[in-house]
Amino acid sequence: MKKMNLLLLLLCATFSFALSFNDGLLPNGNFEFGPKPSQMKGTKVMDPKAIPNWEILGFVEYIKWGQKQGDMLLVVPEGASAVRLGDEASIKTNVKVTNGMFYSISFSAARTCAQDEKLNISVSPKDWGILPIQTMYSSDGWDTYCWGFLAEFDEIEIILHNPGKEKDPACGPLIDSVALKALNPPKRPRGNMLKNGNFEEGPYIFHNTSWGVLIPPNIEDDHSPLPGWIIESLKAVKYIDSDHFSVPGGKRAVELVAGRESALTQIVRTVPDKTYDLFFSVGDAKNSCQGSMLVEASAARDIVRVPYESKGNGGFKRARLRFKAISTRTRVRFLSSFYHMKSDNSGSMCGPVIDDVRLVSVRHI
Ligand SMILES: *[C@@H]1O[C@H](CO)[C@@H](O)[C@H](O)[C@H]1NC(C)=O
Ligand SMILES: *[C@@H]1O[C@H](CO)[C@@H](O)[C@H](O)[C@H]1NC(C)=O
Repeated sequence: MKKMNLLLLLLCATFSFALSFNDGLLPNGNFEFGPKPSQMKGTKVMDPKAIPNWEILGFVEYIKWGQKQGDMLLVVPEGASAVRLGDEASIKTNVKVTNGMFYSISFSAARTCAQDEKLNISVSPKDWGILPIQTMYSSDGWDTYCWGFLAEFDEIEIILHNPGKEKDPACGPLIDSVALKALNPPKRPRGNMLKNGNFEEGPYIFHNTSWGVLIPPNIEDDHSPLPGWIIESLKAVKYIDSDHFSVPGGKRAVELVAGRESALTQIVRTVPDKTYDLFFSVGDAKNSCQGSMLVEASAARDIVRVPYESKGNGGFKRARLRFKAISTRTRVRFLSSFYHMKSDNSGSMCGPVIDDVRLVSVRHI
């Protein structure tokens, strides 16, 4: 009997493996397989089906590592090739997914010459989001962005579209490494009223990139690539991993990279007039982000400002906000009071790290 069950389990596991997508790079998601020379004119791709697994529309270029643009050397983060989307150009691909499951797409992009670059990422038939591509956060021009959605079919079409109107087609964003990750619904562990308080569940991070993943602003919690959390501000926060950064606990944490313009929030059910304790870690990511940092944590009418002196070497401290709920829903919010820039002359933005957030009700005081 036991053997039968095991066999069944194995069968099911094999089936779900075969049917839907496994976390990681999409087929030819790093564009290593490219057009034949006959399908190109210079760097421009002439045939809509020339890039295996993808379909292109409009002015799309196939870029090789080390290619020159003016006096700029184009680098590619993953492998040797990337694509560039001219004005109104797009690339799309079909992926088999599990209907009803939440996913996060991660992709790496670099702004070239356009000032105010944006990408429209959409999942058929109706989900889409506009992501600002700003290259303010990493040193070599590339950043990884993510976007969350709910799969409503067994097969979806992912489209990356450059809505730009720059006139110079060579000014569009470069795209490389498109990956997908299924997100487990966030759970509240015992002894914590918050979901995903340790940030372990979140978007896919490419092993070969050292700049984390930007979680774009104006993200609500129903489609958040960081389950349970809302990015309610104007600017992104950065999702970082212990392979490339120092994080206070576990493998993942969040870096508040845009001062008061990036706030990390979770809404939690509370009982009015009850007292709660919010515990959390404040640290630095060991990424040359130095200086006097200040993290503001707020809930209901209470606020605590936690100073942290960063030498850029990693490290953290625990802090606490005690607050009294004033309604049945409380917004727990974190932001960095100051703006910080890395001391490595890269001009990239950085900031304090938040991790291991725990909310408990205080029974007797
Ligand atoms: C983004 O793309 C989707 C699907 O292609 C489209 O419906 C939507 O209007 C676009 N949004 C903008 C602002 O271009
Ligand atoms: C990471 O980079 C190395 C060397 O550049 C390469 O061999 C490897 O395939 C890359 N890993 C992934 C996941 O692409």
